Amino acid sequence: MATRDTIRIRRIRPEDWDALRILRLAALETDPLAFGSNLRREQESDPQKWKNWATRGSTGAREAIYVAENEPGQLVGMIGSFTEDGQPHVWGMWVHPKGRGKGTGGRMLDQLMSWLASAAPARTVLLEVNPSQEAASALYVGRGFVRTGRTRPLGHSPPAIVEEMARKPAVPG
Ligand SMILES: CC(C)(COP(=O)(O)OP(=O)(O)OC[C@H]1O[C@@H](n2cnc3c(N)ncnc32)[C@H](O)[C@@H]1OP(=O)(O)O)[C@@H](O)C(=O)NCCC(=O)NCCS
Repeated sequence: MATRDTIRIRRIRPEDWDALRILRLAALETDPLAFGSNLRREQESDPQKWKNWATRGSTGAREAIYVAENEPGQLVGMIGSFTEDGQPHVWGMWVHPKGRGKGTGGRMLDQLMSWLASAAPARTVLLEVNPSQEAASALYVGRGFVRTGRTRPLGHSPPAIVEEMARKPAVPG
């Protein structure tokens, strides 16, 4: 696995769709309690769904996917954002276990938040995290997210839950 210096964080490109598929399925298989979706559901998705996802994530004004790239075309991490009723959400953050603890997750979140600062200025950003995902929870707290007190069941794995966290926009000046 590459070091921090050789891992590049960038927005996804349409041609990354198959690498996105491989990475996302690995995430769902490795850390099933970290995500609202599950491996069986996404394994059944056809190639067009992954192509659409990568394309929207690459150029969309209301959604984005950022990836961590080890070598050209080899993805080791991802994070996404979508907007629903004007409300931006962060989803799907994952770093390959061999690459963790080197700053990649934090750098991906920072880049996504920078993109959101211009794509959805002055908006509070929401996410949901299973509190059993200690690294993710600590990362979000370290980047200014606070628990809102709202929780809901992690549908595919009761009694696990997810907690909502929010980050308010920076106050100008
Ligand atoms: C969460 C995750 C993406 C972090 O990726 P990473 O590249 O290891 O994170 P970083 O090295 O950038 O660490 C950033 C911060 O995360 C926290 N963190 C990382 N690993 C941690 C651990 N094992 N225990 C506690 N906190 C940890 C720290 O606050 C760290 O801050 P620091 O930079 O001051 O040390 C990775 O652990 C992962 O993929 N986890 C499984 C999937 C998941 O839980 N996704 C969240 C979905 S909501």
